[in-house]
Amino acid sequence: MPVVNRWCFLPILLFISILLVIILPSLATTLGDGQFVYCGFANSNLIVDGAATVLPEGLLELTNGTVNQKGHAFHPTPFRLHKSPNSAVQSFSASLVFGIVSPLLHASTEGMAFFLAPSSNFSDALPAQYLGLFNYSNNGNLSNHVFAVEIDTAQNNEFMDIDGNHVGIDICDLHSATSSSAGYYDDITGSFRNLSLISGEAMQIWINYDGEATWIDVALAPFKMARPTKTLLSMSYNLSAVLTDVAYVGLSAATGQIESRHYILGWSFSMNGPAPPFFTAHLPNLPKARVDRKATQLILLPLIFPLATPTFVFLVILAIFFFVRRRLRYAELREDWEIEFGPHRFSFKDLYLATEGFKNSHLLGTGGFGRVYKGLLSKSKLQIAVKRVSHESRQGIREFVAEVVSIGRLRHRNIVQLLGYCRRKGELLLVYDYMPNGSLDNYLYGHSNRSILDWIQRFRIIKGVASGLWYLHGEWEQVVIHRDIKASNVLLDEEINARLGDFGLARLYDHGTDMQTTRLVGTIGYLAPELLQKGKASPLTDVFAFGIFVLEVTCGRRPIEHKMNSDQLKLVDWVIDCWNERSLLEAMDPKLQNEYDADEACLALKLGLLCSHQSPAARPSMWHVMQYLNHDLPFPELAPMDMVQNRQVDSPVAYCQSVVSDGTISGLSEGR
Ligand SMILES: *[C@@H]1O[C@H](CO)[C@@H](O)[C@H](O)[C@H]1NC(C)=O
Ligand SMILES: *[C@@H]1O[C@H](CO)[C@@H](O)[C@H](O)[C@H]1NC(C)=O
Ligand SMILES: *[C@@H]1O[C@H](CO)[C@@H](O)[C@H](O)[C@H]1NC(C)=O
Ligand SMILES: *[C@@H]1O[C@H](CO)[C@@H](O)[C@H](O)[C@H]1NC(C)=O
Ligand SMILES: *[C@@H]1O[C@H](CO)[C@@H](O)[C@H](O)[C@H]1NC(C)=O
Ligand SMILES: *[C@@H]1O[C@H](CO)[C@@H](O)[C@H](O)[C@H]1NC(C)=O
Repeated sequence: MPVVNRWCFLPILLFISILLVIILPSLATTLGDGQFVYCGFANSNLIVDGAATVLPEGLLELTNGTVNQKGHAFHPTPFRLHKSPNSAVQSFSASLVFGIVSPLLHASTEGMAFFLAPSSNFSDALPAQYLGLFNYSNNGNLSNHVFAVEIDTAQNNEFMDIDGNHVGIDICDLHSATSSSAGYYDDITGSFRNLSLISGEAMQIWINYDGEATWIDVALAPFKMARPTKTLLSMSYNLSAVLTDVAYVGLSAATGQIESRHYILGWSFSMNGPAPPFFTAHLPNLPKARVDRKATQLILLPLIFPLATPTFVFLVILAIFFFVRRRLRYAELREDWEIEFGPHRFSFKDLYLATEGFKNSHLLGTGGFGRVYKGLLSKSKLQIAVKRVSHESRQGIREFVAEVVSIGRLRHRNIVQLLGYCRRKGELLLVYDYMPNGSLDNYLYGHSNRSILDWIQRFRIIKGVASGLWYLHGEWEQVVIHRDIKASNVLLDEEINARLGDFGLARLYDHGTDMQTTRLVGTIGYLAPELLQKGKASPLTDVFAFGIFVLEVTCGRRPIEHKMNSDQLKLVDWVIDCWNERSLLEAMDPKLQNEYDADEACLALKLGLLCSHQSPAARPSMWHVMQYLNHDLPFPELAPMDMVQNRQVDSPVAYCQSVVSDGTISGLSEGR
């Protein structure tokens, strides 16, 4: 009898489970204590924080379309990863269906991650390149016990990212242990197929850890495709040393300068077994990408005058007048060769509307090359800075636009992102990310409403600029010479990260065909002597300007100070004097009130002197500069005497002025 009774329950149980699957597809079904599967997230009891929310249709939105945000989601109960305390971490696997939607066609920041961590409190983690997982003090420290798989859509050199579209295995560190461009190996042909993470299409990722073989596998594929047999990433690593006994399973996403949205459609996880599959029909849909480039459509008036009343004629004339005026106002210059740069082209109308007609109240500043306005793109709500550069000659413009577009592909956290350009008659407009904290010189030379930067911030700024410049010089596919490094070209973002701006612009004025008339562009005080003599910019002339910049940031003084008796005091000479006669540290900015790390300060001062050495051969490359700053290479022993030859050459200023009077150098702006 009891046997019969037990069997009677089976159909009922089956019925109840079918009912659950059909009626509550989006309910988190925690199957036993070892796994979970979410097909959509409506009614789930996920822990979410930051920008993350569950939308009514069941999509989990980790970032909500605002810049510099982070968002997290955690399965509410943590998992026990070790069978018994001090034993090895057991196998687990996870699967995720996700989609990333960017307001721009070709760019996004920053990315998302699946991770296991000891806590569900990530309030100390930073957004942007830190993906909401770490901050600069705990990144890379094994004691953070975080294992993550990053889905990264921006290239950060700081973490040696391979490109701006990759998947990586992160062991306590955003510098991935291994990574690969996003894509998959076709099961039939075995060939690699690229996937664009920011395509706005849904994709699925599978993450497996085999606790016995200590082996990690990651596979990626377009949504609804089966898991490819050949994995995208795999590596051997014993996570027992990394993961804590009890860990939360979570997701994280972060935005930087572009307000992308990171969506999760479904998520499953299992200990000691494959991650449960999804009922794909039950997953919510991804919203369509919001990239719209509506052509301004012209509604032609029917040119028939059946009853040509004076009023009608008057109205037609008025309409034509407004139409012509509008055409003139938004007139642009477009040529056939620009077609290939189409995606990087902004329409003048959009820029005009973004800056409310280049109103004076939107003026951010007037730089060496033109005026800069702040704007807000109405479609994508992106804050931008628009620089209007007047440019009469057609010569070289094509090369320049090609360079602008290729520079637009440069992506580094210490470089102001160039988003695109627009061209009108006699004018070029360059569109950049907007940097809310303005330029560094405002902080150094005490406008009273700015706070004074402390040493830690200054040293980070020096390292940041070095890293950006190293990227331009060496790391990118072609060498880009900045040509105008100075404090007023270093901008600060929300987190006081330094970002180099205005690079390559000098090039626009440097297309003289004949060397004799090559125009020199730069700023007095930052020009290397050989640049003044031969007029040819090179990476080492950038290093010279970088050296002056380092001294400027460290000493809080301008490269050349004009004294009462019209004498000029060169910062380099003054630092050498301090070193020679008294102590090097006397050159430090008094505003720091002696609060600085003496070793770092000495390093910065000596590095500044070495970089701004008169002889190019004595200057280090940016690669060495990075090594010195990171203490990967000991800084060479230097004495003040090594620097003395620095002053035997004529003052560049004197030299420069004599040449200016000859009329062969122009475009110089006074050092500021
Ligand atoms: C996005 O999330 C942030 C952080 O929680 C919040 O301050 C902001 O208001 C949200 N924005 C929108 C448009 O919902
Ligand atoms: C991994 O590390 C754990 C703990 O340190 C150890 O017990 C286990 O044997 C290791 N596994 C392998 C395959 O080495
Ligand atoms: C998270 O940690 C921070 C400090 O690290 C603390 O101030 C905050 O209260 C914690 N939040 C929660 C929800 O526990
Ligand atoms: C970085 O995060 C760790 C761990 O959450 C925290 O203890 C530390 O205070 C944070 N550091 C900074 C500078 O915010
Ligand atoms: C790693 O973090 C631990 C605790 O948070 C700290 O004591 C240790 O100094 C850190 N190590 C490094 C190299 O920063
Ligand atoms: C895939 O992407 C890589 C790097 O972006 C590129 O070099 C390669 O040509 C692409 N392959 C295809 C088939 O598109």
